[in-house]
Amino acid sequence: MADPNALDFLRIPSDVLVALDWRPYHFALQPYHYLVRLTHVMSMAAFFGGIAALDLRLLGWRVTLPLRPFADLIIPWLYGTFGIAVVTGLALFFYDPVHVGSHAYFTLKLLLTVLGVANALLFHRSGYLAALAAEVPVSAHPSVHARLVGAISLALWTAVVICACLNVEAAPKLLLR
Ligand code: HEM
Repeated sequence: MADPNALDFLRIPSDVLVALDWRPYHFALQPYHYLVRLTHVMSMAAFFGGIAALDLRLLGWRVTLPLRPFADLIIPWLYGTFGIAVVTGLALFFYDPVHVGSHAYFTLKLLLTVLGVANALLFHRSGYLAALAAEVPVSAHPSVHARLVGAISLALWTAVVICACLNVEAAPKLLLR
């Protein structure tokens, strides 16, 4: 993450950002912006905690915990919390597209989010969750495929959170002593 300019090719063009800026929406949201940000952070934390727990289980942690009931509990939670994070994230973006779009890792964060969703969808489609739940005995170690998906997912979502944090506050350029 040393040189943010290396990500210039990913940036949303400024004329697009300017065109997306709609001041009536900005002024209407102004009194509630802090609440939207608060909800974004809360839902993001709830989503990240849930997906990290599932990923760690796929990686082989606590293999005695049956996967099927665990996944039944956690997947609706992930849909809900991710949905709220996306809606509030979009609301934050449209509040000030030029400012948000100028953040060094904003588009990288979106790209990683798309990859995280694609990874989860591919895993779901390939029916591995069902296959794992049917594993006998319950304490059998997850397949290489499941571990790989868990590791990729954990890495992607961690990177999303890191990019988001760096967008809000980057490493200092100068330290005053
Ligand atoms: C379409 C999806 C999303 C959009 C459009 C979005 C957009 C935003 C925006 C505009 C901000 C304000 C800071 C900035 O300018 O970057 C923000 C903050 C943040 N987002 Fe997202 N976000 C999305 C999804 C997510 C997801 C899935 C996560 C984590 C799993 C996440 C984690 C965060 C974090 C940690 C912050 C920093 C909050 C703060 O300290 O102010 N976002 N997001």
